[in-house]
Amino acid sequence: SQPTPFVIAVDGPSGSGKSSVSRAVAGTVGAGYLDTGAMYRALTWWCLHDEVDLQDPEAISAAAWSLPLEIGDDPRAPTVHVGGRDVGEEIRSSGISSQVSRVATVPAVRTEMQRRQRALIEDIAARRGACVAEGRDITTVVAPEAPVRILLTASEEARLRRRSLEVHGASDEAAIAATRDQVVRRDRDDSTVSQFTVAADGVVVVDTSDLDFDGSVEAVLTVVRAARAG
Ligand code: DC
Repeated sequence: SQPTPFVIAVDGPSGSGKSSVSRAVAGTVGAGYLDTGAMYRALTWWCLHDEVDLQDPEAISAAAWSLPLEIGDDPRAPTVHVGGRDVGEEIRSSGISSQVSRVATVPAVRTEMQRRQRALIEDIAARRGACVAEGRDITTVVAPEAPVRILLTASEEARLRRRSLEVHGASDEAAIAATRDQVVRRDRDDSTVSQFTVAADGVVVVDTSDLDFDGSVEAVLTVVRAARAG
């Protein structure tokens, strides 16, 4: 008989290292990968591209229902296409980052994205034997039954340092100050829809504040291996 598809759910705030760590873990265990934040970003891109009024939740919801989204699940080269167009880079722009909470906080949008995410996770896990899915509400809402559920956290200081390095290529005081506003504000906006800074029952907390990248990957792999053995 086929082994049961294995789902690894990872939640956490921006700057926790969630995406890079999840991709490395997926690559190591041979799992497919789903970045659910990329889906909200892709929808935001589509809304801006289609001149959907971001003040109009019904218009945004309609865009979510019709979004022609294709997600590639290779953790070494995840891809995002909307209407056949490769938007993988554009969805990381600061323009999208500053608008995405507006889209992701519409309840009907979340319902539709969560429905798509469950279907994608099921499909990826069935095809590849396992799926690492990361976001804000994967451990709690999208895949609460996943055999591995992890909350990746890091102190605000560590998250600001990493984000600053990523965005400004530096982590001196000025760069961190420039990053602080964006990171703190977005976490606050995001936390209105799902509480991702406190672990739900049965969710394992991995704090990466004092870990480097390899250490963070190893810490998550330890949790995954324990669950697989058990
Ligand atoms: O992880 P990220 O920065 O790419 O996420 C982009 C946005 O989408 C962010 O504002 C939080 C939101 N998001 C969400 O609400 N639920 C998820 N499962 C994933 C992301």
